[in-house]
Amino acid sequence: MSIFGAVDFDDHEQVHYFYDKETGLKCVIAIHNTKLGPALGGVRMWPYEDEQEAVTDVLRLSRGMTYKAAIAHLPLGGGKAVIIGDSHKDKTPELLKAFGRCVESIHGLYITAEDVGMSVEDMATIHDTTLFVVGLPGGSGDPSPFTAIGVYQSIRAAVYHRLQKRELKGIKIALQGLGHVGYALCELLWGSGAELIVTDIDRGLVEKAVNEFRAKAVAPDAIYEQDVDVYAPCALGATINEKTIPLFKCTVIAGSANNQLKTAKDGERLSKLNILYAPDYVVNAGGLIDVFYEGPNYNEQIVTRHVERIHDTLLDVFHKAEKLGIPTSEAADLIAEERFKTSKA
Ligand SMILES: NC(=O)c1ccc[n+]([C@@H]2O[C@H](COP(=O)([O-])OP(=O)(O)OC[C@H]3O[C@@H](n4cnc5c(N)ncnc54)[C@H](O)[C@@H]3O)[C@@H](O)[C@H]2O)c1
Repeated sequence: MSIFGAVDFDDHEQVHYFYDKETGLKCVIAIHNTKLGPALGGVRMWPYEDEQEAVTDVLRLSRGMTYKAAIAHLPLGGGKAVIIGDSHKDKTPELLKAFGRCVESIHGLYITAEDVGMSVEDMATIHDTTLFVVGLPGGSGDPSPFTAIGVYQSIRAAVYHRLQKRELKGIKIALQGLGHVGYALCELLWGSGAELIVTDIDRGLVEKAVNEFRAKAVAPDAIYEQDVDVYAPCALGATINEKTIPLFKCTVIAGSANNQLKTAKDGERLSKLNILYAPDYVVNAGGLIDVFYEGPNYNEQIVTRHVERIHDTLLDVFHKAEKLGIPTSEAADLIAEERFKTSKA
């Protein structure tokens, strides 16, 4: 299998394969770009069908981290690790420690963190064999409230840019997913006087939001067609696609979910319909910003101030898109690339 010839290979600096016979660990660590700083990105444990699927995932995810860090003004590069295996069956302390040794062997060029199939406790086990791990118990804690602040600021920026309104009072928002980020976002939006329409597959969370925020509840499939100003996807990826786009009545899309556009063409489709799309990796960088500040001098106010800058970053993205006549997703990529490709760091 060729790495250099892979569709998702994008000038990645390093791709490391590791195998540990004793624990059965098979993992790949990809470092996309370290021009702005060491490559930070989570480790994902997933029962990939085959090696190719794992490599495709790690190449894509590590590249995404470079863009997210650059646009969030963080002195970090992009990296990611994948462990091939079922986290429910194959994850053992020995395997995690073996993974930690792999990370340690790269001497800090890659810093690992929690991702799918991993927990905060697992990070503590990995810490036994490497210093290069963040998101430890007692560290910066759950990043979701900061991610929610970033989404809230993104909605404010997009509503200002598209509707020329500085307040969210009376703005109608359809929110998909009332999990860690979505529920915290509801609180912020409700506090600003926005009107909420919500959905989740967990009916308990929906009932809670209805009671607490006087939200209107709709079935999961009905969220796309709501007559609202903003659609905030905070559950799954790829919910913006050829099937949902014709249903949208919103004028703004801004939410925390990763990889919201199913394909790049969907970004073009939205801009043709004059729906303002706030690119996902700009909007949801609050969690990464929070983790970046982890350490003995951690200060919630400093993190909050940094996360709130997402508001102005998004305005820059919208202006660039208009100036060049390109989708906002492309404008965000250009701004990120200007930073990590031209940096002298
Ligand atoms: N937590 C963070 O700090 C963070 C940071 C960056 C990106 N994100 C992304 O934001 C999204 C939400 O993250 P989270 O931490 O809140 O996750 P979560 O698992 O706590 O919440 C997701 C919610 O979506 C609901 N859901 C799942 N399928 C659904 C469907 N078909 N329709 C409606 N609701 C559905 C789930 O029941 C759950 O309540 C994810 O895509 C995640 O990758 C999160």
